[in-house]
Parts: sequence; C-alpha cells; structure tokens
Amino acid sequence: MSVAHGIRTLGVLGAGQMGLGITYVSALHARVPVLLYDRSSSQVQNGLKLMDKLLAKDVGKGKITAEQASEARERVTVVGQEKGMQGLRDVDMVVEAVSENLSLKQSIFRNLSAELSPSAILASNTSSISITKIAASTIPEGSSAADEAGKKSASRVVGLHFFNPVPVMKLVELISALQTSQETLDRARSFAIACGKEVTTSQDVPGFVSNALLMPFINEAIMCLEKGTATRDDIDKTLKLGMNHPMGPLQLADFIGLDTCLAIQQTLYVGTGDSKYRPSILLERMVDAGWYGKKSGKGFYEYPQ
Ligand code: 3HC
Repeated sequence: MSVAHGIRTLGVLGAGQMGLGITYVSALHARVPVLLYDRSSSQVQNGLKLMDKLLAKDVGKGKITAEQASEARERVTVVGQEKGMQGLRDVDMVVEAVSENLSLKQSIFRNLSAELSPSAILASNTSSISITKIAASTIPEGSSAADEAGKKSASRVVGLHFFNPVPVMKLVELISALQTSQETLDRARSFAIACGKEVTTSQDVPGFVSNALLMPFINEAIMCLEKGTATRDDIDKTLKLGMNHPMGPLQLADFIGLDTCLAIQQTLYVGTGDSKYRPSILLERMVDAGWYGKKSGKGFYEYPQ
C-alpha cells in the first residue's frame, strides 16, 4: 500500500544542475510548492532561466499546457540571501543537492535539524557519501545517538539520489541510513513516485549501487585513454555503437562533471580501501587544471560557453 508523502512544501538546497532538476520535477509533476535556496544568487538566476527554457520546450512539444507550465513556475519561490537556510524552516521536506563534501553536508544537516520541525524529512541527493554519517550529524547537542531526541532526529534522514538530467532520467535511488525510520523511507519513496520516478533501494555503502557500478566503468575508460589503448573518440564510439549507450563514458564523465566523478571515486576508494577504485591520475590532473567537463567549458571535450 502506498503511503501519502504529506509534503505540502519542499525545500531544495542547491540550485546547480541537480537541485534545479529536482525543483523542476517537484513543481511540475509532484505539484508541490518549492522553496529554492543557494548561497550563490547567480546560480539561482541561471537555474531559473534553465527551468523557464525547459518548460517552454515542453509546452512547444505539446507535453504540457502553457497553464501547467506557468503553474509549475509559480510554485517555485527563491529564498533570499538575507534569510539563508532559515528560510526553509517551515517546509515538510528538504532535498539537499550541494557539492560532494561530507563536512559541508554535515554542517548543513546539523543546521536543518535544529531549524526544521521534528516531523520534516531531511533528504540528501548525495551520489556516494554515507547517509549514516550525515544522519549522525543531526543529533542535537546534549543528546546521544541512543536517547530519544538523538534517535528521532537521525531517523528522518534519508538518501534520495536523482540522476542527471533529472527531468529525463526515470530513476531515483533510495538509501536508508542505519538510523532511518520506515516512515521516512515510505514517505520519501512516495514523494519520488509523485515526481514521476521509479525507485530502487540500495544499502548505505560507498557509491550505493549506481555509482559503485558506474564510476569504475568511467575510471577504466579514462585509464584506457591514459594508457593510449584507444583515442577519446574511439573509446566513446565503442560504447555508443557497440553497446548502445546513449553517451560514451568520457562524454558522460564530462556531463556529470569531472570534479564530481573524482569526489565519488575518492569516496569509493577511501570508503572501501579497495585499490580497484583508485581514481586515475589523468582524472586527478584534469580536475587540478580546473577542467571540470561541460559545466566549465572543457573536459575530455570542448564546450563553447
Ligand atoms: N535537462 C533537461 N532535459 C534535457 C537535458 C537537460 N540537461 N538534456 C537533454 N534533455 C532532454 C531534451 O530536451 C530532450 O527532450 P525531448 O525528448 O522532450 O525533446 C531529451 O532529453 C533528449 O535530448 P536530445 O535529443 O537533445 O539528446 P539525446 O537524445 O542525446 O539525449 C540525454 C540526451 C538524455 C542526456 C542522453 O544522452 C542520455 O541519456 N545520456 C546519459 C545520461 C546519464 O547516464 N545520466 C546519468 C548520469 S549519472 C548520475 O546522474 C548520478 C550521479 O550520482 C553521478
């Protein structure tokens, strides 16, 4: 039996490509008012421009009506810099979609836990970081992991992992921390379904199922390039034409972001201690150079901005 998600207002933290995509499907498909916050105002403005473009494209293609598009757009409210994260205090669920950095996420979740109602769900769109570690950071000062306040606080933290581009990719991966309650899992699942997604579940292991499989694949492709096994174009063409992948692995790495790929690979490598996850040196150097892929204009390919 499906459980009502009970989300009357959603908070989205981070207006990058993932946060914006989550805002888009929540406002358009789940029809939920969204409060969007990012500490960079220009990121929010660029994100909203992209949302307008996507809505207009869907109207042009007859997928949605102009009325549905304007209703979706009106459901999105930007939280001003003067309010900051406090502007999210009345929402029923937050989805955090900031960069892959454990201490940043822990500090955000500590703040959210202190500000939001105890019944609000705190979800992370992390690609690989332990949800259990994030949940543990929400335990209020003066409480412990074993007392009622500590258990309650951590029990509402969950992993809700969307895929890029969020409006297109059908999957959401649901990850339970050791502390997550069944009610939190059921409501988060129900919300993802309302966003038009199918849901798989993964245990809280580094990279979960998706990136524990995808990242070694991408890393092997980069190592093939590094070793000179084949050219960039032939590596990508092999996977596109030989295996029917929509993008070759190097193009996909650029699309995800090379900094994000490296951060996930480091989490896998450190979290498992298994040398098979060691990031390729070429990937590390490209990130050192600021070549982050599509978003920075250069990665394995060039992207005129
Ligand atoms: N945002 C929203 N919609 C987009 C989009 C974007 N950034 N990029 C493309 N689309 C839409 C297009 O508008 C188009 O919609 P339409 O059917 O209504 O016209 C549709 O996607 C197809 O786009 P195109 O015809 O322009 O291009 P393609 O057919 O080449 O498809 C693609 C583009 C959907 C991105 C396809 O190449 C693809 O599926 N690539 C693989 C993506 C993938 O593997 N994503 C997962 C990455 S891993 C991840 O996110 C997890 C993280 O933890 C790392």
